Amino acid sequence: MKFFSLSLQLLSLASLGFVKGQELFPQVGYSTLNGGTTGGTGGTVTTVSTSAALIAAVKGNTKKIVQFSVPITLTARPQIGSNTSLIGIGTNAILTGKGLDVSSVSNVIIRNIATKKIVGNDGISVKSSKNVWIDHCDFSSDVLNGFDYYDGLVDVTSGSDYVTLSYNYFHAHFKASLVGGNPDATGETYHITYHHNFWENLSTRTPALRFSFAHVYNNYYKDIFAQAIHTRSGAQALIEYNVFRNVTECISTYGMVIPQDSPNSSPDGDYEPDGFANEQFNDFGGYPKNITQVGSLTSVPYTYTATPLDQVMTVVVRDAGLGKI
Ligand SMILES: *[C@@H]1O[C@H](CO)[C@@H](O)[C@H](O)[C@H]1NC(C)=O
Ligand SMILES: *[C@@H]1O[C@H](CO)[C@@H](O)[C@H](O)[C@H]1NC(C)=O
Ligand SMILES: *[C@@H]1O[C@H](CO)[C@@H](O)[C@H](O)[C@H]1NC(C)=O
Ligand SMILES: *[C@@H]1O[C@H](CO)[C@@H](O)[C@H](O)[C@H]1NC(C)=O
Repeated sequence: MKFFSLSLQLLSLASLGFVKGQELFPQVGYSTLNGGTTGGTGGTVTTVSTSAALIAAVKGNTKKIVQFSVPITLTARPQIGSNTSLIGIGTNAILTGKGLDVSSVSNVIIRNIATKKIVGNDGISVKSSKNVWIDHCDFSSDVLNGFDYYDGLVDVTSGSDYVTLSYNYFHAHFKASLVGGNPDATGETYHITYHHNFWENLSTRTPALRFSFAHVYNNYYKDIFAQAIHTRSGAQALIEYNVFRNVTECISTYGMVIPQDSPNSSPDGDYEPDGFANEQFNDFGGYPKNITQVGSLTSVPYTYTATPLDQVMTVVVRDAGLGKI
């Protein structure tokens, strides 16, 4: 009986493109706009267990789902093609050695995978890409090696657009997630949603935003030791229904990039124009924020259901990270 129902479930998960997970945790946010983000849903399903096989399987723009269930030490950064889903099965789909590139493509889904201690580049680097959904992943390194030893956990740069990061566990790292890598690239625009992520034991960039329209809701911030959400270079952020505990600075719209984020020759950090923030219904737990400009992003063009503030800690700790879809 048990074996029968297990194999039925596996069969339906694979052939239906993980509809089970999508039912439990539907995609919400800016990645659902601009035509939507379906990744490889409905395409071929390939299971991989080696670096070479993963790198080969995710390449190219044909519709495909690539899945794995074992730790893989990557020898090079896989270049994820358009119309592709990369899905971890269970709690052991952990990538070390190298991270992932989502570069000059569109329509990509990455779910239920971990990257650990990726040196020399980001855990996931999203560049010049549109319609990307990163969900239920686990991103970490350590905070023992100085703040420039590792790069970002998930950075979204070079004018990428229509991105959602949901139910991820970002932890044990200095600079978590940068949106907009170049303060001089004033022509770039980012629409990005961060919801139900668990951010723990981090220094900065949860996220740091430039040139963005960012919706940051239902995140739980714990032990953020320099600066949590930073909006600068005119970025607009709608920040709501988040909980902050033991956070040095919950929100800053000061353009000044603090030395713990980008040290330059000035002890005061790097100058940039201020950003904007609208905050409502947040639980700051008495920790400081520093909002200089209230912005114009007061609503978002998609529907979402916010978890009530008093349930955010419980729900995020329970549902974010690996093994939940
Ligand atoms: C992705 O798939 C769609 C639909 O099949 C197709 O129209 C599009 O060309 C594909 N994208 C790329 C970059 O090949
Ligand atoms: C925080 O980071 C330190 C150093 O990397 C690590 O020892 C500790 O376990 C981390 N704590 C959590 C909760 O991630
Ligand atoms: C607050 O966070 C810091 C840095 O992550 C940590 O060392 C400290 O133990 C935390 N304090 C409490 C009360 O949890
Ligand atoms: C706000 O941020 C600026 C720049 O980081 C800093 O100089 C100032 O002290 C902060 N103010 C408060 C009230 O935290």
